[in-house]
Amino acid sequence: MTDRVIALVDAGRHKPLPPPAGQAAGPARDRLGRVLRDLRISVTDRCNFRCVYCMPKEVFGKDYPYLAHDQLLSFEEIARMARIFVEHGIEKIRLTGGEPLLRRKVERLIEMLAAIKLPNGKSVELTLTTNGSLLGKKARALKDAGLHRVTVSLDALDDPTFMAMNDADFPVAKVLEGIAAADAIGLAPVKINMVVKRGVNEHSILPMARRFKGSGHVLRFIEFMDVGATNGWRMDDVIASREIIRMIDAEMPLEPIDPNYPGEVAERWRYRDGSGEIGVISSVTRAFCSSCTRARISTEGMLYTCLFATAGYDFRALLRGGKSDAELHSAIAAVWAARDDRYSEIRTAQTPQERKIEMSYIGG
Ligand code: GTP
Ligand code: 5AD
Ligand code: SF4
Ligand code: SF4
Repeated sequence: MTDRVIALVDAGRHKPLPPPAGQAAGPARDRLGRVLRDLRISVTDRCNFRCVYCMPKEVFGKDYPYLAHDQLLSFEEIARMARIFVEHGIEKIRLTGGEPLLRRKVERLIEMLAAIKLPNGKSVELTLTTNGSLLGKKARALKDAGLHRVTVSLDALDDPTFMAMNDADFPVAKVLEGIAAADAIGLAPVKINMVVKRGVNEHSILPMARRFKGSGHVLRFIEFMDVGATNGWRMDDVIASREIIRMIDAEMPLEPIDPNYPGEVAERWRYRDGSGEIGVISSVTRAFCSSCTRARISTEGMLYTCLFATAGYDFRALLRGGKSDAELHSAIAAVWAARDDRYSEIRTAQTPQERKIEMSYIGG
């Protein structure tokens, strides 16, 4: 397939702002009673990988219409949004992409975000999801700017399988170097995300578990999701987390442990011999919408209340339209109060596949 270009945003995908929310005591809650804790900000729609489950080459080819610089939120606009979100109870900010380390001077943005204080005076937790390709080079600057930790995507340990996943001839060794650099500089604990796709990298499950057991890094296995409209998802491609746990447990015995915080997407397991923990993210077989506290800002400033959304709220227009902080604050409150998303729990044919927003645009 060639020449298939999908315009990621068009006017029809902007939702009008809901009416103002009533003033209730305590933190903002959505229509399903969920609070707002976690903000993900996509800082670029570009990536130097072409992972088959995220930015397949047939779609994201040379002529793909990426956003122009003036379409992206500026660092000042992002920091302003972040400050207002913190007033709403956000405690953690994750920078994503595309590949966030491709955004020029991203460490300057990190500095600006690191200066934001929570109402209790503590700093906001700052983290970033990366493919690791530039981490070796950038780990120190990221740490110096105030980043707390990183999550690195890595889908296999052997080059043929990894390259079949990233489709960019990128070698495993460079990612491992990036992980080691991040760990050495204290961007820890480093989490490693492995998306498992049946028939492509399932044979890497045990080698990955063996490799990172005892390393201090937290390896998480992620069920391949039907996110976006371009990855040709089929249920047959999904390996259920419980199957992964069974496989690892048979060789390296595991026991379940409690979540680190309410709403954590990964279920945690630890090795019975005390050599660390792993996680599984069962977005397909065990949806976690009922505790979903995440909001997402896309590269060009649309606010999405679900990873599987088909439309977002145009906050860039508000930011550039002279709205005051108080008006932005109320707009966020209204959006959150109206939120009733629970896509993974009701995953059916209801959401037309071709309308869903791409993960490279909205951020993982
Ligand atoms: P920390 O606990 O802060 O380390 O982050 P996290 O567990 O939220 O993990 P991360 O942001 O690395 O998310 C891991 C993966 O889980 C993502 O890449 C997605 O595949 C999946 N995921 C994260 N958030 C959601 C969500 O809201 N909905 C669904 N369906 N999947 C999600
Ligand atoms: N299924 C599951 N996770 C995905 N990611 C991207 N696309 C998918 C998908 N189809 C996540 C992975 C990757 C991060 C950048 O986004 O966790 O590590
Ligand atoms: Fe790039 Fe990450 Fe998507 Fe792979 S999963 S194409 S590394 S944004
Ligand atoms: Fe949250 Fe939507 Fe994911 Fe459910 S599908 S966990 S509501 S982002």
